[in-house]
Amino acid sequence: METTVLNTILERSSIRGYTPEKLTGDEIDALKKAALASPTAMNRQDQRFIFVLTDEKRARLEQAIIDGVLASGNRDFAERMKSRGGKVTYDAPLVIIICAKPSHFADVDAGIAVENIVLAAQSMGLSSVILGMPGSAFSGPAAEEVKREFAFPEGFEFRIAVSVGHAAVTKTPHEWNEEHVIEV
Ligand SMILES: Cc1cc2nc3c(=O)[nH]c(=O)nc-3n(C[C@H](O)[C@H](O)[C@H](O)COP(=O)(O)O)c2cc1C
Repeated sequence: METTVLNTILERSSIRGYTPEKLTGDEIDALKKAALASPTAMNRQDQRFIFVLTDEKRARLEQAIIDGVLASGNRDFAERMKSRGGKVTYDAPLVIIICAKPSHFADVDAGIAVENIVLAAQSMGLSSVILGMPGSAFSGPAAEEVKREFAFPEGFEFRIAVSVGHAAVTKTPHEWNEEHVIEV
């Protein structure tokens, strides 16, 4: 009954600390494939995957997120950021940002793609954490400038991001409630 893919799904958890070890070219290529192989509504494939590969660019992203959170005045976000040591991408050697133009299924498509990426990473012995918080960098007063810095095509908006790297910490997968599945 249990397949390798199912084990990969069950073993995955959100990792919020990474070693400085870079990903290999082959690992990065495999993650690109996993992203591009994701199904999209009506096969539109109209999302883009921004691979943030350098420490400098990641530091710039972190700063833009912090600026965005502070500018938004969203206290919940600010508190959550503080509780995680002021880190949003957790020093991961790779951050992937998924952006798309507004459309009915844009967020669903992005959710499917980000899960493809995290499961591909897990299957290669890498770890990951899905990130909604970076959205703060791409909304608010500086949004257009930051979008340009991160090569968003015209009209594209942040959907979701993900950090990928070698785990420096461990975390058990979340627990669940069997009653959330309803048989009819
Ligand atoms: C849409 C979405 C957005 C998320 N955003 C963040 C985030 O910004 N920062 C973070 O540390 N974790 C984020 N997470 C990770 C969740 O907190 C995590 O998946 C959840 O606590 C369950 O834990 P697990 O992934 O270890 O099973 C996000 C997860 C999802 C699905």
